[in-house]
Amino acid sequence: MSATVVLGVTGGIAAYKIPALVRLLVADGLDVSVVMTRAGTQFVTPLTLATLSCNPVHVDMWSERPGPQVEHISLADRADLAVIAPATANIIGKLAAGLADDLLTTVCLALKCPVVICPSMNVNMYRNRVVQRNIKTLKEMGCHVMEPESGWLACGWTGEGRMPEPEVIAAEIMRHLSAPDLEGERILVTAGPTEEPLDAVRFLTNRSSGKMGVAVAARAARRGAQVTLIAGPMSVEPPAGVRNIPVRTALEMYQRVMEVFDDSDVVIKTAAVSDFRPANPATGKIKKEEAPGKISLVRNPDILHILGTKKRAQQILVGFAAETENPLENGRKKLIAKNLDMLVLNDVTQPGAGFRQDTNVVHFLLRSGEEESLDLMTKDRVADLILDRVKEIRLRRGRKQDSAPSEADHQVRP
Ligand code: C5P
Repeated sequence: MSATVVLGVTGGIAAYKIPALVRLLVADGLDVSVVMTRAGTQFVTPLTLATLSCNPVHVDMWSERPGPQVEHISLADRADLAVIAPATANIIGKLAAGLADDLLTTVCLALKCPVVICPSMNVNMYRNRVVQRNIKTLKEMGCHVMEPESGWLACGWTGEGRMPEPEVIAAEIMRHLSAPDLEGERILVTAGPTEEPLDAVRFLTNRSSGKMGVAVAARAARRGAQVTLIAGPMSVEPPAGVRNIPVRTALEMYQRVMEVFDDSDVVIKTAAVSDFRPANPATGKIKKEEAPGKISLVRNPDILHILGTKKRAQQILVGFAAETENPLENGRKKLIAKNLDMLVLNDVTQPGAGFRQDTNVVHFLLRSGEEESLDLMTKDRVADLILDRVKEIRLRRGRKQDSAPSEADHQVRP
């Protein structure tokens, strides 16, 4: 059964972002019940939110039809998570004081589930001592308060008080609803293509979109891991809730990966790193008339291979490979040659698999010898299954006790 979210919408201008938030939550399979204050209905209509949530929107205490259920109690009982977004200074004050003078505040008093509050208001209201005291009270009571962002505010001021974007709130909601089974893991994910300059405006690249890596990063963050994403120029946005390090070339990716590697427990290398780069890129734009007859290429470092030689006993290394010939045989060789714990083989010959798709067909090859062929499924689902395997490898290996790399760890087995 899907989780139920009670979404409280109060009267702030940021309510204009709530239809987008409802859409994201419904697309993620959540059952969303919206409760609005009267002021909230001035900014976005109940009809809009009822249509997008596919549920009735609740506004008035006294319009409930007489029946055996007490609506505000049954709403509170059903909720797995409650979110107040936007949360005005008024609702924050009422919740901190324990008032119940409308449907939303009454529902809130009856909640037994975790509550996420998204303050949104003018910067001076937000900094007001009484508002800060009320926010502190809510935190002490166990509410999760999402810090507002800083920037341009609808009132004309610039400063903190902006409600986070719907994607950021949705990621936080999904994090609260997911089992934090990867908590304590620091996961480095690489994603996307790289661009290898030929001159000031031209480059060599490939058709990788970054979707697979983004799915892995988003699911890992949702499951409580601390995620760093090092990505070449992707055609999709990096997910909310991860540390994002954009890079362009394979050499840049190599440098940034090496900086983060020592502080990573797991590395998942979905990036389609260019194997070669033009040997002598021109600093300006090469003119038509000066077109080189040949482009000499030099090899880029094989980042994954280098990580395999530096891996500490407790670090888990996952590689990807897109093979078109003898995929299983070549995959097995690669698993050993790169000293990986797991290799995800993309079957790019299958429809619905590989670059730019939202779905993938993959085989898992594990160092332990286990192999698994999966059917066509979404990249999100593939990401979760990869993370499940990572968790199993960690459990088999016992808890993390990071030590300096030993001689044996340095060996790349033939
Ligand atoms: O050997 P092959 O390129 O098929 O291996 C693919 C895997 O190696 C991917 O996980 C990719 O991110 C990684 N790789 C790398 N550095 C390269 C080339 C590939 O880390 N220069």
